[in-house]
Amino acid sequence: MRKKITVVGAGNVGATCAQELARRDYADVVLVDIIPNYPQGKALDVNQAAAVLGYEPAMVGSNGYEETADSDVVVITAGKPRTPGMSRDDLVSTNEAIVSAVTKEAVKHSPGAIVVVVSNPLDAMCHVAKATSRFKKHRVVGMAGILDTARFSTFIAHELDVSVKDVTAVVLGGHGDQMVPVVSATNVGGIPLPELLPRGRISKLVERTKFGGGELVSLLGTSAWYAPGAAAAQMVDSICLDEKRILPCTAYLEGEYGISGLYMGVPVKLGTGGVEEIVKLKLTADEKKMLRASAAAVREVVGVLKKK
Ligand code: NAI
Ligand code: 2OP
Repeated sequence: MRKKITVVGAGNVGATCAQELARRDYADVVLVDIIPNYPQGKALDVNQAAAVLGYEPAMVGSNGYEETADSDVVVITAGKPRTPGMSRDDLVSTNEAIVSAVTKEAVKHSPGAIVVVVSNPLDAMCHVAKATSRFKKHRVVGMAGILDTARFSTFIAHELDVSVKDVTAVVLGGHGDQMVPVVSATNVGGIPLPELLPRGRISKLVERTKFGGGELVSLLGTSAWYAPGAAAAQMVDSICLDEKRILPCTAYLEGEYGISGLYMGVPVKLGTGGVEEIVKLKLTADEKKMLRASAAAVREVVGVLKKK
């Protein structure tokens, strides 16, 4: 039977994610937004692209949740994006209200779904979706690590003039400026990164990755969407197709990596059950210290939520 995926928020990230998923051709996609006619228009456009690109037109746009009933996965991208000068964390109270409202409606109609959160500030919004849905921790997971890792991989590939396909990188921690690009787990064609680049060059790539979202905001005037939409779609694939990929995602930690009661970016096994395992990666003492600092930054934002 075809899978069913709901994407809430038909803006830049939601529409890109929905379009990526429609092109995969294994699921029916419902795109929801509060703006009248907007998700319907986007769905019609994506369906018409099917005639050119050769997939079945299977997207529906809606301003309500009836059509979303019994979705396997719900992706939440509703909310405000960043604008220049604004940090991801500045969005907290506006987006808490939005994420809470859409989660409530979405899970009412799809009580068996896995929820993938994209809205920022990401780690805190995962707490909001978990608290509102009352789903078990493995059924609410956030997208950030795949995007942050994609940025790090891209910078490494450009620096070394190699294919990005041969770069294996990992970025963990919160989706903020204190994220942790894990250099000790990064290699190119199997060769550890520190053997390929001097420490100073690596530090520059690490810093650019940490502020990668802000770089896009200053270029675009709003936050990025192609890579974020593709990253969320990759998570949906792994869940719907039970691929059991090991991907950096934002998962609820209860002691793993020495962190408890907090959503943080860690490598997880993603399958039909959602977060099926939190994978333990050996970190250096410095990386562990950075992860603790990142956790403290996430806790601060979570601390200002109305509902934890
Ligand atoms: P956008 O402004 O293009 O789209 C957001 C959409 O949400 C709008 O169409 C808006 O009408 C809709 N929306 C607002 N309230 C709603 C509600 N109650 N119900 C249904 N729809 C509602 O923004 P964009 O660029 O798509 O970003 C969306 C979110 O994703 C932002 O919070 C942004 O910061 C975040 N983001 C997160 C990333 C990550 O790595 N986790 C990466 C990129 C963006
Ligand atoms: C990004 O990293 C702003 O979270 C958004 O592009």
